[in-house]
Amino acid sequence: MSKKLIVGNWKMHLSPSEATLLAQRLNQKIDHDPKVEIVLCPPAIDLMPVHKEMNAQKFKLGAQNIHYRDEGAFTGEISAPMIKGLADYVIVGHSERRAMGEDDKTIAEKIAAAVRSNISPILCIGEGLNERHHELTKKVVMDQLEANLAMITAGEMHKFVIAYEPVWAIGSGDFAKPNDVIQVVLWIRHTIEELYGEAASSKVRILYGGSVDPDNAKSYLSLDYIDGLLVGGASINYEKFASIVKTAQDIVE
Ligand code: PGA
Repeated sequence: MSKKLIVGNWKMHLSPSEATLLAQRLNQKIDHDPKVEIVLCPPAIDLMPVHKEMNAQKFKLGAQNIHYRDEGAFTGEISAPMIKGLADYVIVGHSERRAMGEDDKTIAEKIAAAVRSNISPILCIGEGLNERHHELTKKVVMDQLEANLAMITAGEMHKFVIAYEPVWAIGSGDFAKPNDVIQVVLWIRHTIEELYGEAASSKVRILYGGSVDPDNAKSYLSLDYIDGLLVGGASINYEKFASIVKTAQDIVE
């Protein structure tokens, strides 16, 4: 079993003092293990306090969003160069942002902005419930990949993380069956291979996300096809998140 990646998406939760407390608890509860990489993605205002507090040997930091331009008159936005030095990763294209109107072209530009600043994108893709019912999952994920990676070259792909997150599974408690996830992961890897070649495709890490909790984490992590998990709700509960990390640590030899 190869190295696993566990990402915690804290979404719009926790003030700076609450985020600091969570980082302290995670420091205490989680042991360092080089076989499992852990990335915490707090809200932008918490990046600095969590960066100061977290044990940098155990955790890396990711942002939840960036603007596609490096600087300028964009009130309320933050750019990739601003988070550089704090965050190694950034979540791009999360379905909650797509639902607010973020389109494929903007996502492609945000991914290019992350790569320009040497920050690894965690690109989220996945089908909605209606699309699933119409058996459009394969088409949806392939179209999203092609559109969202439009500005990226094969040489840049090794930094990439793709999170397969079926929209209907996010925050719903209704998680995807591991066998279904394997099928989609294979489609994703195949699409990247078609676009960029085998060497580039083999380096991309592909995660599952959607109602992951301590009870179902093992069913995904025990599969070689899945390189790790993107955890939402359970990531702001330190006991649940630590339990998911421990499951990964126990599985990887
Ligand atoms: P969830 O969220 O684990 O709460 O379903 C996952 C995500 O949105 O990344």
